[in-house]
Amino acid sequence: MIDQTVLPIRLSYVSCTTPEQVATAIRTMIVRGAPAIGVAAAMGLALAARRSKASRLPELIREMEASAALLRRTRPTAVNLFWGIDRVMKKVETAASVRDAKDKVVEEVQAMEEEDVEANKKLGRVGADLIRDGDTILTQCNAGALATVGYGTALGVVRAAVAEGKLVKVIVPETRPALQGARLTAFELVRDRISCTLISDTAVGHMLSLGRVDKVIVGADRITKDGYVFNKIGTYQEAVLANRHGVPFYPAAPRSTFDLARSHNQVIIEERGAGEVFQIRGKRIAPKGVPIANPAFDMTPPELVTSMITERGLIHPPFEESIPRLMS
Ligand code: MRU
Repeated sequence: MIDQTVLPIRLSYVSCTTPEQVATAIRTMIVRGAPAIGVAAAMGLALAARRSKASRLPELIREMEASAALLRRTRPTAVNLFWGIDRVMKKVETAASVRDAKDKVVEEVQAMEEEDVEANKKLGRVGADLIRDGDTILTQCNAGALATVGYGTALGVVRAAVAEGKLVKVIVPETRPALQGARLTAFELVRDRISCTLISDTAVGHMLSLGRVDKVIVGADRITKDGYVFNKIGTYQEAVLANRHGVPFYPAAPRSTFDLARSHNQVIIEERGAGEVFQIRGKRIAPKGVPIANPAFDMTPPELVTSMITERGLIHPPFEESIPRLMS
């Protein structure tokens, strides 16, 4: 996998051959982004299956359950992680033998890999219909090829609109504390020669108030059955400000990001280490001893969401009715 912690300074790769290495890569954000960690975790389980020396199926399943438990503990908010793990564990339960289980697991994760790119391309085309020639899109974090198996969700919409010949500009907030906007989204857009402007997170309200944004399009880590959108910290303030200035707000996400089993008050928002806040790229910027809070995600309520862009089409309010209808 691409080591996302060192981009854009270095484009280097990390090889994982054990589920433990995959769990570390997810926890340390070598790989990050909801769809990417879902498929990475599934591949971690495929590694567990392939490496196993178990001679009987129940033994193999027990070993895979232990790896699944380790992978589940890496990051709590993106539902894709649990979706990926559950899908592989369900598959292995249908196997007739150890050999059959190993083959089925590998086939399943390869299917997931292909489906993710396919879903992104489809939702990209759905979202591109909303984009007018000359539009400026405000995004958040990185919801591009790096955050998925390929193509991207929010950036997939941008890519699809550009492919249709539309002129699209993207405003990229840096996305403190981990700087996925500055480091990763800007990297993808510059590489693809898509027009973009990097801003500090604190400039978001100003840009919206000047009328410089036509649409806000973001990714999502989990969309609950009651229509709440969990995404990178800073998304909620974009939604509030977009609403204040009459700018439509669209989350773009595949089916694997929808959590039809939970409502918003049942979701854990990941709290990451203080070092991400008191330092920037390893350099201390705050005094020793200052208390720090570092929530990695926030929650945007359905009343601030215009529509949701998915591979099954647009989802419109009221979301508590439309999400179960279109996504179950
Ligand atoms: O902490 P991260 O970098 O994993 O957070 C990623 C995001 O919040 C993305 O917007 C989300 O996963 C959607 S990616 C297609």
